[in-house]
Amino acid sequence: MKVLVCGGAGYVGSHTARELSDRGREVAVFDNLEKGHMSAVPKGAEFYRGDLRDYAAIDRAIAAARPDAVIDFAAYSLVGESVGEPIKYFENNIGGTLNLLKAMISRGVGHIVFSSTAAAYGEPESVPITEDARTLPTNPYGESKLCVEKMLKWIDRAHGLRYSVLRYFNVAGAHVSGEIGEDHEPETHLIPIVLRAALNRAESVTVYGGDYDTPDGTCVRDYIHVTDLADAHILALEDIRKRGVSTTYNLGNGKGFSVLEILGAARKVTGVDIKAVTGPRRAGDPSSLVASSDRIIRELGWQPKLFSLEKIIETAWNWHKNNPDGFKD
Ligand code: UFG
Repeated sequence: MKVLVCGGAGYVGSHTARELSDRGREVAVFDNLEKGHMSAVPKGAEFYRGDLRDYAAIDRAIAAARPDAVIDFAAYSLVGESVGEPIKYFENNIGGTLNLLKAMISRGVGHIVFSSTAAAYGEPESVPITEDARTLPTNPYGESKLCVEKMLKWIDRAHGLRYSVLRYFNVAGAHVSGEIGEDHEPETHLIPIVLRAALNRAESVTVYGGDYDTPDGTCVRDYIHVTDLADAHILALEDIRKRGVSTTYNLGNGKGFSVLEILGAARKVTGVDIKAVTGPRRAGDPSSLVASSDRIIRELGWQPKLFSLEKIIETAWNWHKNNPDGFKD
């Protein structure tokens, strides 16, 4: 099976491309390298530089690569930025994906795994969150992903394009080899920010809000290791190819950790007394997001291997310690 990975030079995309390639699948990567890194692309993968907003570029790549299926990660993903620049998000995340779907249909590629998000739910009515929970995004990023989910449903009905939508919770960690990891500019995610502080790249970490209705007053999130997530993409792809049924799955570990618990675990793993100061809440942050991933465990037998918080932080620490400036390119 040959898979075209759109956004395969980015964080989750490169870990998934690596996993596919380690398991002997043929991999082609399509990426504009705006956020991604060429050195994150697995050796031996075909590479097409292009932008999904350019229909001709993605159509040419599909024609040349002739993939059996597509996994799509190419999107902007900063919640805060999306609030200020919704058009940028809708143009890229919806418009770009629409180009991809059109090109897939015209070239006869019938299977896609689509990267969605817990942000599709918005403020949850109850936790853990199941796939049937209300979807009411509180920011344009979540809305853009939910909109593609809805487009997929109708495009499947009309054109038989089978999909698996994966709604991720908080992705963290790095490949166990230490060869690839998370490198965002700007970095907004908690675990890399905490580890950068451990490397003295910042004086302290600001905890966004200490007055939430949670056990210690700080926000609770469900952290999933990027390689366990990559594994879920492969399982989902194999399943839609085998059963021909479109699906939607949550992906998290089903256990919530507060910001203070993350800081505590990071101090333990790094041995550094990382300083933290409590600041105001960050706009748009729900107090608690914890996934029920029962559906993918039950239906596809997904089994996370790197589920312990220490292991997640340990692999991330290994990457950041050895690559304090991220990828070389
Ligand atoms: N946080 C801090 N200080 C920081 C950075 C983060 O206290 O310097 C807190 C945030 O307020 C939040 C938690 O740490 O409570 C996790 O924040 P992240 O930015 O790491 O992740 P988010 O939960 O905001 O976002 C993640 C994904 C998004 C996705 C969202 C779904 O990164 O892409 O989950 O809600 F949309």
